[in-house]
Amino acid sequence: MTSNDLFPTERLADSDVRVLLLENIHADGAEFLRGKGYQVETQDGALGEDDLIEAIKGVHLLGIRSTTYITEKVLDAANDLLAIGAFCIGTNQIDLAAATSRGVAVFNAPYSNTRSVVELAIAEIISLARRLHEKSTDMHNGVWNKSAAGSHEVRGRTLGIIGYGNIGSQLSVVAEALGFKVVFFDIDDKLALGNARRCSTIEELLETSDVVTLHVDGRPGNAGLFGREQFEMMKPRSLFLNLSRGILVDTVALRELIESGHIAGAAVDVFPIEPKRQGDPFESDLRGLKNVILTPHVGGSTEEAQQDIGRFVASKLRSYAAYGGTSLSVNMPEINLPADASKHRLAHVHRNAPGVLATINGLLGEHGVNIEAQSLSTRGEIGYVLTDVAKGVAPEVLSALAALPETVRLRELT
Ligand SMILES: NC(=O)c1ccc[n+]([C@@H]2O[C@H](COP(=O)([O-])OP(=O)(O)OC[C@H]3O[C@@H](n4cnc5c(N)ncnc54)[C@H](O)[C@@H]3O)[C@@H](O)[C@H]2O)c1
Repeated sequence: MTSNDLFPTERLADSDVRVLLLENIHADGAEFLRGKGYQVETQDGALGEDDLIEAIKGVHLLGIRSTTYITEKVLDAANDLLAIGAFCIGTNQIDLAAATSRGVAVFNAPYSNTRSVVELAIAEIISLARRLHEKSTDMHNGVWNKSAAGSHEVRGRTLGIIGYGNIGSQLSVVAEALGFKVVFFDIDDKLALGNARRCSTIEELLETSDVVTLHVDGRPGNAGLFGREQFEMMKPRSLFLNLSRGILVDTVALRELIESGHIAGAAVDVFPIEPKRQGDPFESDLRGLKNVILTPHVGGSTEEAQQDIGRFVASKLRSYAAYGGTSLSVNMPEINLPADASKHRLAHVHRNAPGVLATINGLLGEHGVNIEAQSLSTRGEIGYVLTDVAKGVAPEVLSALAALPETVRLRELT
């Protein structure tokens, strides 16, 4: 079976678009898509492979979170699927290569929980500086310890941010508003926001910071980024936070340096091994330490973030289904051609081979179709071209485009 048999050229009215949203996605997502006239079905839980293979037939847009696995077998059964919305940050649960080779676009919400992580980091820095967690635990144990010893204001202190991406840079702005001096280190050239100062080495940052916080990504090579050597380079009685990736940090070294008093406190939200299911036991070298705040990977988990994810991913699915827009797609070449209701739009996903654009345009020219706007982008083995033409393209033109050997998928839009 060729990909053309799997995905015939289709022109869908909004009322024919079928959407399946699994895993209790925020209601705003369903509401947005229903507002566009789509038929939306929602289910609270995830589906296993066999159930999903049944459920996905006839579905055009699928929404999942992190526990529904989109395997090649599922995609083989998804004969009408246009796009998958991962209403979360990660997309490891999706066989992206299989989706791409079938012309199925995948979208996620990489920025929806940035603010939530930043707010938790700020809350934890102040809590650690004032030893709130320790004092509250004492009180619950019936101990009244009214003392200023070891409690500090954060005003005028230096915050060292390692990884100045979405989260690190937003934290920089909020921390300055609280009176922090901010320094940062990033392996890429990053614009320093506000009065933040860039450090040229991680060592320079460690030697100057009263609080060190990690916000790097999980690229290969970052595992073990922070070990004994880095902790020892930190200022005596400084604070440490990791809300980014568990694999970055040597937790045995962190424990020892907290016990020795070199590190005055720590907040950790991510762990090298995390329990898989709610209620599974949690093991860590960091359990039972004073002035250490442990949280179960909830840095980005707020109702606001969930709502934002619901709206953001739903709007990406809509934009792709209706106009072919792929901006911020995880797997497809990115194109965002402005929609023009007076035109007819052809969305063509093809294998990225020399001469495909020339062939498409030659074919359109032969049939007297004038191109009014066009945008092409490629990514790895896939090419994607949106072409706006005058309304009323003859069916034989579409058949000829669909029959090109490089065609993965052709859609008529608007
Ligand atoms: N705790 C949570 O619930 C939660 C929620 C969201 C994101 N995160 C994690 O937070 C981290 C940051 O997220 P983001 O959206 O800001 O990512 P991002 O990709 O926008 O930023 C990461 C930054 O780290 C830099 N970087 C990578 N390796 C580095 C290194 N070795 N040294 C210095 N800089 C380095 C990159 O250049 C980039 O600027 C990610 O690991 C993400 O998975 C955690």
